[in-house]
Amino acid sequence: MLKRLQEKWGVSTRQFWILFIVFGLTGTTTALLTRYITSWLGMDAGTFWLWKVLLRVGMLVFGYQFILLGYGALLGQWAFFWKYERKLLRKMGILRKETTDDGRQTTENSRLFIDDRIIQNSKLKTQNKEFPTVRIAIFASGAGSNAEKIISHLKNHSSIIVSLVVCNKPGAGVISIAAANEIPVLLIEKERFFRGDTYIPELSAYGINFIVLAGFLWKIPEALVAAYPNQIINIHPALLPKYGGKGMYGMKVHEAVIAAGEKESGITIHYVNEHFDEGEPIFQARCPIDETDTPESLAQKIHVLEHRHFPEVIEKLLK
Ligand code: GAR
Repeated sequence: MLKRLQEKWGVSTRQFWILFIVFGLTGTTTALLTRYITSWLGMDAGTFWLWKVLLRVGMLVFGYQFILLGYGALLGQWAFFWKYERKLLRKMGILRKETTDDGRQTTENSRLFIDDRIIQNSKLKTQNKEFPTVRIAIFASGAGSNAEKIISHLKNHSSIIVSLVVCNKPGAGVISIAAANEIPVLLIEKERFFRGDTYIPELSAYGINFIVLAGFLWKIPEALVAAYPNQIINIHPALLPKYGGKGMYGMKVHEAVIAAGEKESGITIHYVNEHFDEGEPIFQARCPIDETDTPESLAQKIHVLEHRHFPEVIEKLLK
């Protein structure tokens, strides 16, 4: 039953227990406070029953809710409880129905920035209607610094959860990052990924409805693209369409950019289709290249851009 409740709330196990603690503390505090106010007002057995009932109902309807928000904020769960309160206020008719039950605006505008231009992203509107809670699988093969930033950025998010890390290298750094954050890891093998069921049953079992490639170097098979239409995004460490395609990953990209004498480079976040680095772009950010830059120093600049923007772009895209 608890598992079902956790799924309904769309939270991680850790967050689930924190929420329980908040509810527990709130209940106890409200009861103690009610008792204190009762004696402060001098209410006793002889007091007219209606006054006592009114006090209790008032404490339950208003006091409890304020205390809940207070403890929620103290334990880092403001977003969850504010959403909960808004829902309650809407049910009571105090708040207008400007937002949907999961807190999204009804006039949804999933807009993202490409440089300074705003692009309208209509595809995701349909997607989010189907999946109010977004469960992300991060696919990564390397150190996992991007995965780490995304996980920590979304840690307390009430409706976007990193539910799984998918990795094709047993010793990769991203595995310990997942373990430290209590996120399950699915280790995948080439044969099944490219010629089998592409691990779609496992992804479904975890309720995955969005995939983020953060340094994942295998091509995504057509079957997976078809199973997750417009629901797979990738980050590439260059300004696509330049320096993309097969074999262009990590340091190889930076070496090629420096060798070509480029004056700037950057990052591209894009949808994934069945071709390497060719899906529709979502976001780009740039950085200058100095004459003294090496592939290694450029890689550092690119990582700074990635860490700054990737988690935020994901959140904006899915909100
Ligand atoms: C990132 O720079 C990412 O852009 C790149 O791999 C790195 C992974 O770093 N991805 C590609 O090159 C994909 N073609 P991380 O493991 O520290 O996140």
